[in-house]
Amino acid sequence: MDNRSLISISDLSKDEIMAMLKRAAEFEKNPNCNILEGKVVASLFFEPSTRTRLSFETAVNRLGGRVIGFSDARTSSQAKGETLKDTIMMVSNYADLIVMRHYLEGAARYASELSHVPVINAGDGANQHPTQTMLDLYSIYKTQGTLDNLTITMVGDLKYGRTVHSLLEAMRFWNPKFNFVACEELKMPAKYKKFCDELGITYRESVDFSQEIINETDILYMTRVQRERFTDLMEYERTKSLYTLHNAMLADSKPNLRVLHPLPRVTEISQDVDDNPKAYYFQQAKNGLFARQAIICRALGID
Ligand code: CP
Repeated sequence: MDNRSLISISDLSKDEIMAMLKRAAEFEKNPNCNILEGKVVASLFFEPSTRTRLSFETAVNRLGGRVIGFSDARTSSQAKGETLKDTIMMVSNYADLIVMRHYLEGAARYASELSHVPVINAGDGANQHPTQTMLDLYSIYKTQGTLDNLTITMVGDLKYGRTVHSLLEAMRFWNPKFNFVACEELKMPAKYKKFCDELGITYRESVDFSQEIINETDILYMTRVQRERFTDLMEYERTKSLYTLHNAMLADSKPNLRVLHPLPRVTEISQDVDDNPKAYYFQQAKNGLFARQAIICRALGID
């Protein structure tokens, strides 16, 4: 694997993460320059996306590079039976960098082992979403002024939610305390709880989305129950609307609390939360542009 690929958030050291957050802040001040002139970035989306794809493509455009690729794999030769291996072998001949989202866990790692150029994982099944985590960390740092000693409450689909899996792993450097709020069917998988146990990270699990939990929280990380991950649609129907954040539930929350969500949302955040100053999910998505500019520069070795 090219060591500039970004497949899992665990590929990054604390120093590398901090350097990228600093660079993201610089891009936020000045997002337009020509440091990618002459570079071609392939954007390969085998799964639907709005934010990740458009913010990556905007990032390349604002840095003076060019984008090739597809947003719907049915328009690629996958529809004629081409394997992922052959697609990657071809595209890595054309582009300087590949940004790829795929529905299979491990697909990004596999692609990075075949590719002649770095690969950035833009989400692989229920596994990891490291670039989302970089913008989440940037959002947390901006709103809290620190990443240290925060209470982070994750709510919703903790089983299939790749964003919470990546964020949990990233926070290992900063002594977090986690609340995992989910129903039995969508609990945080055992491997992530083992990860916390081994590192001495405190967590508690709760089926109730209680006022007590909200009121002790610094970062309230809501997630969507993802229909596309279920093999049993009855289970999806049973679990899809169990947790909804309403504005009144934030009345006694800490002043520094911010509500994050990777988006898209369906029913898990009521629209009456949108005007609350503690709602941060739209700014969070905007931060994705700057975080991804920093990620692209790292991948291409541009200082
Ligand atoms: N957060 C996120 O990955 O959003 P998209 O699916 O729209 O890219």
